[in-house]
Amino acid sequence: MNKIFPKDFWWGAATSGPQCEGRFNKPHKNVFDYWFDIEPNKFFNEVGPNVASNFYNSYESDLEMLKEIGLNSFRTSMQWTRLIKDLETCEVDKDGVRFYNAVIDKCLSLGITPVMNLHHFDLPVELYEKYNGWESKHVVDLFAKFARKAFELFSDRVKHWATFNEPIVIIEGQYLYKHHYPCVVNGKRAVQASYNLALASAKAIKEFRDLGCDKNGGKISTILNLTPSYPRSNSEEDIKASNIADMFFNRMFLDPAVHGTFPEKLVEIFKKDNVMWECNEEENNIIKENTVDYLGVNYYQPSRIMAREIEFDKINGWMPEKYFERYDMPGKRINPHRGWEIYPEAMYDVAINIRDNYKNIPWYVSENGMGVEGESKFKNAEGIIEDDYRIEFITDHLKWLHKGIEAGTNCFGYHLWTPIDCWSWNNAYKNRYGFISLDLETKEKTIKKSGHWMKEVSKNNGF
Ligand code: BG6
Repeated sequence: MNKIFPKDFWWGAATSGPQCEGRFNKPHKNVFDYWFDIEPNKFFNEVGPNVASNFYNSYESDLEMLKEIGLNSFRTSMQWTRLIKDLETCEVDKDGVRFYNAVIDKCLSLGITPVMNLHHFDLPVELYEKYNGWESKHVVDLFAKFARKAFELFSDRVKHWATFNEPIVIIEGQYLYKHHYPCVVNGKRAVQASYNLALASAKAIKEFRDLGCDKNGGKISTILNLTPSYPRSNSEEDIKASNIADMFFNRMFLDPAVHGTFPEKLVEIFKKDNVMWECNEEENNIIKENTVDYLGVNYYQPSRIMAREIEFDKINGWMPEKYFERYDMPGKRINPHRGWEIYPEAMYDVAINIRDNYKNIPWYVSENGMGVEGESKFKNAEGIIEDDYRIEFITDHLKWLHKGIEAGTNCFGYHLWTPIDCWSWNNAYKNRYGFISLDLETKEKTIKKSGHWMKEVSKNNGF
């Protein structure tokens, strides 16, 4: 045993409401529920979010399985479309309140720390149809109201909150690269929605503090997928391109979350290119004054960047790619099922970046993981999936994280995506990420080899 982690380290896993619960008894549809209803062919094997991994019905036995594999903490998200019956007045849905109370109480009875996130790509579709979703400041205010309601209802027991999961993915998916409904391609609208998401997070944090949740042991964060930007070479052009990609894809949310400000050079670019967001001083002050207590960092893959070689195609108007191109680095290690590079060393770079440039704020790895297709072929005679590749993936990342902790970064936990194989956006059940497998036909849930392994890691607080 040579990698021991700090005392009370979180060994856990993360999922989200829309990906695990199933749509049972929800008063509203989110953008993905709606998209599946109108275009099921956009989803792998036409499997939608209707049942997902049935957490709505099986949360008790599911959480017991998490306990069985040694997890001491668990993140999920509360669906706006389940908790709130009237999106304008914020009148609650009784069954939604019952359900989230039951989940929280079950976690606590098992000694599992619940981490509750408030938004995981699941905008109520009505708010898109009526107001253009995150482009609207009214939607920002409705989100803050929903957040306040959640704090009022549950903050007596939930002490760890997050406002958003991966806000940049909402921008990429909804406004740039067409992988979230309504698949708009519009850089200017993307920039406005980005500001509004940062504002919505700050307004929710303000509600948290106005209610005194912080005086009651509560802590609030936001969850960002950091994709450290590595330039192709040390040339000035490549470094400049990489810095711009970093500002857009990482710092646009990381800076306001921790420092309450946006990267100046990014704002300069937006102004110069006539895509700058609309905002006022009062809103900027809210962002300035309501930064996070801690950070959740999802890390899956790095970003390899080079200066533009081919002229930027203006067909779609302004796009961040005006300033860089993706670099396909030869010889990189890759997860072929997801097409993502595997680069565990970046875990250390993230750790040091937070230590040196982000006030050494407390943080945890809120997601990391490896999605693999066709895992059932790794089943042994006892029916257990032998996912040694996942154990190797986690170990590699934990080693670099541990090195970062030794160097003084303030990291207090590691969550795998995900505890039990869950539904995922367009990929549905194609790639499996869990410590626990889900047989879609029999609905049976079985601990994989990695789940048994995690039990030992958690017991030993290291490996
Ligand atoms: C994260 C998201 O980016 O990656 C999850 O927070 C998602 O919602 C996970 O499921 C894995 O990505 P994918 O697309 O393979 O499911």
